[in-house]
Amino acid sequence: MRLIVVDDYNKMSEKAAIMVASQIILKPNSILGLATGDTPLGMYKELIKMYNNKEIDFSNVKSFNLDEYYGLSKNNAQSYNYYMKENLFKHINIKEENINIPDGTAKDIEAECKNYEKRIQDQGGIDLQILGIGVNGHIGFNEPDITFEAETHLVNLDEKTIESNSRFFDSIEEVPTKAISMGIKTIMHSKRIILLACGESKAEAIFKTMKGKITPKTPASILQLHNDVTVIIDKEAASKL
Ligand code: F6R
Repeated sequence: MRLIVVDDYNKMSEKAAIMVASQIILKPNSILGLATGDTPLGMYKELIKMYNNKEIDFSNVKSFNLDEYYGLSKNNAQSYNYYMKENLFKHINIKEENINIPDGTAKDIEAECKNYEKRIQDQGGIDLQILGIGVNGHIGFNEPDITFEAETHLVNLDEKTIESNSRFFDSIEEVPTKAISMGIKTIMHSKRIILLACGESKAEAIFKTMKGKITPKTPASILQLHNDVTVIIDKEAASKL
């Protein structure tokens, strides 16, 4: 794992955006794996700036998001579909048909998970996957467990995740308790991975991910076995390393 420790959130966002931009410049039809949450927001802003300055072109890029809440429709302001549209897609020239996000309202969830996994494999896997990390060490919504869940699947969200994500909802009761998430194998098959984290609250998870035992109790620890992971974090998130 390559470690880059930066001063602050803005520096992390700039560095990550430069890496994504160079991926797109070198391979204009890149398959990007995207994350939601607070962490990548600054990176998306930087990418939008680069697009407006005509430094990057998303017209041949395809994207697959890591996850989506179960039960939330695309138009729900808390859905990850909505987040992606508002924070990135509506500002760039990615084609609608090239955007892939699990459908949290699919009638047959198992079929939706299988189909999502197949769509990723049909593209030959993800070229560059962006990851945030949960305070409990989750990546995507792969929560601490007794085994690593391989492929895209329906997840029961961990109490810590529900509590942490309640900041985006009016009340904790509104936070969905399930989500569809890419699995660990899906993520590990990505050719390159960037893991982003900021703030003291992520320090323990980052320590366990980079220096701890590889265990499904810290899902991100499996990244130690990937041969092209760049961890870009601020000083606070690096404080326990
Ligand atoms: C989001 C995702 C999650 C988040 C993680 C960190 O698509 O897959 O794993 O990356 O929960 O969230 P933030 O960035 O809000 O701290």
